[in-house]
Parts: sequence; C-alpha cells; structure tokens
Amino acid sequence: MFTDRVLSGMRPTGRMHLGHYHGALKNYVRLQSLHECFYFAADWHALTTHYATTEGIAQSTFEMIVDWLAAGVDPQQATVFVQSQVLETAELTLLLGMIVPLGWLERVPTYKDQQQKLADRDLSTFGFLGYPVMMASDILIFRANMVPVGEDQISHLEIAREIARRFNFFYGREPDFEEKAKAAIKKLGNKKAREYEALRTAYQERGDTEALESAKALLAATQNLSLGDSERLFGYLEGARRVVLVEPQPLLTESSKVPGVDGQKMSKSYGNAIMMREDPADLTKKIKTMKTDPARLRLSDAGNPERCPVWDLHKIYSSEETRNTLHRGCTTAGIGCLACKQPVIDAIIAEQAIFHERAQKYLDNPSLVRDILDDGNDRARRAAAETMRDVREAMGLKYDRSFA
Ligand code: TRP
Ligand code: SF4
Repeated sequence: MFTDRVLSGMRPTGRMHLGHYHGALKNYVRLQSLHECFYFAADWHALTTHYATTEGIAQSTFEMIVDWLAAGVDPQQATVFVQSQVLETAELTLLLGMIVPLGWLERVPTYKDQQQKLADRDLSTFGFLGYPVMMASDILIFRANMVPVGEDQISHLEIAREIARRFNFFYGREPDFEEKAKAAIKKLGNKKAREYEALRTAYQERGDTEALESAKALLAATQNLSLGDSERLFGYLEGARRVVLVEPQPLLTESSKVPGVDGQKMSKSYGNAIMMREDPADLTKKIKTMKTDPARLRLSDAGNPERCPVWDLHKIYSSEETRNTLHRGCTTAGIGCLACKQPVIDAIIAEQAIFHERAQKYLDNPSLVRDILDDGNDRARRAAAETMRDVREAMGLKYDRSFA
C-alpha cells in the first residue's frame, strides 16, 4: 500500500554538463526502475533569484529536459513535469505559509549565504525568503518519502520535515480519529489485527521501537486498505494523529567528484564545464587542454595523480586496470599527460554517442518533448490533487454538500 515515492527537481539551467549527469541524472535513471519517481523542472524556484531576467526560462527548461531524456530518464517509468504547470503546489505553499514561523526561514544557512553571494541582486524579497516553503510543498504534495539531493539541500529537507510534522500536529487530529482507527484495524482481518494491536501496545507501553518497525512493515505489506485508513493506522501507532503529510528523507548519493577543465568544481558559470552533448572534436580539445597536476611541468617530472583533476575523471571513466597502469606511469614520469588523457577522451566520446543518439529525435521533433511534459504534468496534477483534498479537509476548508 505504502510504496516508496521519489521526488527530485532541478532549476532549469539549460543544457546539462557532466557534473549534473554524474551528480544527479545517473541516479534519477537508476531510481526510476526501482520506485515511483517524479522529476521536475523547478522553474518557480528559478524566479526566486532571477525574477528580473525571466525571458529564457521556458527555453532553458526545454534544453534541460532534452538532456534528462538523453541521460536515459524514461517518461514511461518516471513522471517528468514542470513545477509551474501544477498549480496545486502554489495553493499548498500558501497554506503552509500560514504555519511556518519566520525564524525557521531566517535560520536556513543558504538564506544569508545566497544573499551575500548574489549581492548584485536584491534578494530581500518575500519569494526568496519563502523558497524553502515552496520546496517543502514540492515534496509534501506528492507524499514523497525519498528525495535525492546534494549536501547543499539537506537543510531545506529538514525544514520540509519540520513543516510536515507541524502540519500533522495542528491538523492531523480528526474528531473521531479513535473510532476510525479502530474500524480500520478491523479491516485488517482477525490475525493481522491482533498482531497490529500487540505491536502497538509493545511500542506505546514499553517504547519497543522494533515493534514499531514491525507494525509499520505489517501495514506496508497490507494491500486492501484505503489510503486514508492506511494513514490512520500509521498515525495510530505513534499517537492519535493522522499523518496527512509524509515526512521526507534525503537520499544522499555518494556522487563522484566531477572537476571542471580548470580543476575547480564544474559549473557553467565558471566556464569550465564539459557538457553532456559535446561535439567530439571540441570535447577532445577541452580535455587535451585540461589542467593536470600543477607540479608536473615537464614530461620528466613525476606527477601525483591525487593532485590532478584528470585523475578524478579516470576514477569515473577508467577500469582499475587502466588506472593502475596510468598511476605507475604518472608517478614514475613514464607517461605523458596527453597519453594519460586519451582513455578519458575515448570513454567520454563513447558515452556521449548514446546521449547524442537519444537526444536526436527530440531535436528533430521538439513537440515530442511537449507531449512528454503534457502527460507528466497531468499525472503530477492528479497526484497533487489527491493530497490537496486531504489538506483542505484537514484544515477545515471543506465546502462540499455537507457544508450547506
Ligand atoms: N532547490 C533545489 C535546487 O536548487 C531544487 C528543488 C526545488 C528541489 N524543489 C525541490 C529538489 C524538491 C528536490 C526536491 O537544486
Ligand atoms: Fe594527471 Fe595523468 Fe598527467 Fe598524471 S599523467 S598529471 S594523472 S594527466
């Protein structure tokens, strides 16, 4: 019943580079066959810092999505969508804004950081301060429990969890919760119901956390419960609250370090990026002129691979055997840097041939991308609408026939 849901998003920054690929996209592709996945272009997020220059956003979204598809993100398996096309998220952002203390937002480390870093813009705006609330909505609206992100997003995820907890604390109380929970227990059937009760008691009376985990596993393996009943039974284990919004966990990927051609972190704004779809001749030139161990000035100088950015690429692209040979060659001045770079050049060209091939049909026929997003936006909207029905009802915003 309770399946894992993965959600992740990226700001639409246009074409993707190898840092995006190895840091995130490879992981998107891996996860899509394991779990239900939602991946989106965070175009509203881009507005929080780039509200004064918005012309290129849709084009950047298009270019980014083409590279996601080139990387192997499969719209048959994952839901690929655009944040601004799911209006429900704006509603949730507004509602969550009611319960988020200002102090939580002012304390987010990236708030002051980014203001200082992007000093050429005025970021003392409502939208920029509230950006973690929007990010929480992105996640909570899909009831995603797993969120693949980098280190830099951990503090935002923590806020999302705190917001979910606070929401459930305020609004997770149904007036007739006990009765509903008990009715739901009956639906488990005799044997499971007895097991559930025993585990709940073990946890509540003796704090037995293993019993809690077993009870959760029991619920997770139960097929015939409605989503509402399932949430009640999860909530009833720990107290008398319903879990309306699910607390998400970060999924930290050990992402390989991808250096730019100057040895710094790869970034489009540093002008040091190797893009996912380079022309092979340009790619060759970029790597041939790439920085190496700065202490190795001449072929006759022994080098130290640990101080060489090209070595970081070998860690990603070369077999252990190749690495052993090259390591020896470098440290004994037995091999030149150009020769050492060649296997990396070959491997990246081979990898990119697949990216080029996958991207071609979308470049020939861009409306295919629109179709994919239309479909993804629809699917995302349906999932979001389901959560919003519960959210509105939990908050007392219920205007159906029972109202008048
Ligand atoms: N804030 C993220 C970034 O700048 C992008 C993002 C927005 C996101 N909403 C999200 C990531 C929800 C994960 C889940 O990279
Ligand atoms: Fe770097 Fe290879 Fe040159 Fe050594 S031989 S400095 S690892 S490029």
